[in-house]
Amino acid sequence: MKAVEVKNGIYWVGAVDWAVRDFHGYVTPRGTSYNNYLIMDEEPALLDTVKYDFADITVRNIRSVVDPARIRHVVINHIENDHATSIDRIMEMSPDAVIYITEKGRKGLGRFFDLSRWNIRVVKTGDTLNIGRRTLLFIETPMLHWPDSMMTYIKEDKVLISQDGFGQHIASSARFDDEFIGCESASALDDAVVDYYANILMPFGQIIKAKIAEIEKLGLEIDIIAPDHGVIWRSDPGRILRMYLDMAEGKADLSVSIIYDTMWESTKQMSLPIAEGIKDEGVGCKVIKLRATPMSAAIKEFWKSRGCLIGTPTLNNLMYPSVAEFLAHLRGLRPKGRIMGAFGSYGWGGGAVKEAYEEFKKMRLEVFEPGLEVLYKPSSEDETKCYDFGREFAKRVKECHAKF
Ligand code: FEO
Repeated sequence: MKAVEVKNGIYWVGAVDWAVRDFHGYVTPRGTSYNNYLIMDEEPALLDTVKYDFADITVRNIRSVVDPARIRHVVINHIENDHATSIDRIMEMSPDAVIYITEKGRKGLGRFFDLSRWNIRVVKTGDTLNIGRRTLLFIETPMLHWPDSMMTYIKEDKVLISQDGFGQHIASSARFDDEFIGCESASALDDAVVDYYANILMPFGQIIKAKIAEIEKLGLEIDIIAPDHGVIWRSDPGRILRMYLDMAEGKADLSVSIIYDTMWESTKQMSLPIAEGIKDEGVGCKVIKLRATPMSAAIKEFWKSRGCLIGTPTLNNLMYPSVAEFLAHLRGLRPKGRIMGAFGSYGWGGGAVKEAYEEFKKMRLEVFEPGLEVLYKPSSEDETKCYDFGREFAKRVKECHAKF
């Protein structure tokens, strides 16, 4: 890819990572991009860098627009490795540049780099920087999604550089939402937004609502939202804001995700009549086997559905390890607005279903009790119980969904 003008002398100078499939444990089947932006003004400014492996690419893209030695300002909106680890390369080429960063960012960046070499200015919400014809406004966004995070608003162009916020893990030749929708589809883009939100931003719904309200209160008009991953929102930036507010409110489909694993197929066998019962109650259902599904994909499916049934065999009186891992991961994401139930098979003592409910209660999620356990292998009578369990769970899901 080469530099792409986003608006009036504001250039995307990032890199597309077509190959990454494991993003610190998050599976990225569509790759990603590391977006950073160059503003050409009397004093050129670079907003963010890229992951270190892609330093040569961003340097080449910057050079296609300006000699990097002319850059006077470097804004670091976020210090995570995928955005800040090219800073050494940039500062070698732009030694006169001043770095703008939050206080928490400065402290964090100092754990990775020797900052004594650089001229650093700490900024906070409301601080501005004039670079000639333009003014940059800094807006701290702590815990969206790291303590150091901030966004930068380019006042004259009404462009919000939103860092990780509103991003998607998509590698594409399209730089803009309308280009992407034109060559793929709006639903593919929405799916990438939900996947990203579920795996990265799920814990921060309340902060997201408050931050969007703060931006509205500041009266910022936004023509373009330019995140540091995926496509740039230029056709209707209000759409992605509305999607985020909906997700922050706990919006979900009236559906159930059955997320399970199985040892000798008994728990799997239970899942099928349960799914039938859910369907016959008029509620959509997806069945997801954990060891056949990447963790982040299972998290996305969980998040999309109002209800979730966890299927787990008992192994040594505990949940099956893949199920325990999934619930541990989910607990860290602090989900809200979902109703949970559990089922599974056991051989002698049981215990997995009980343990699953203990996990749900730690997460303070609404639960459907009792769960359903089957000895060794479901009989035809057990399969009828599974079907009824699915129907009753679906009824509760409908009640729960009506509250949102
Ligand atoms: Fe894309 Fe928090 O880094």
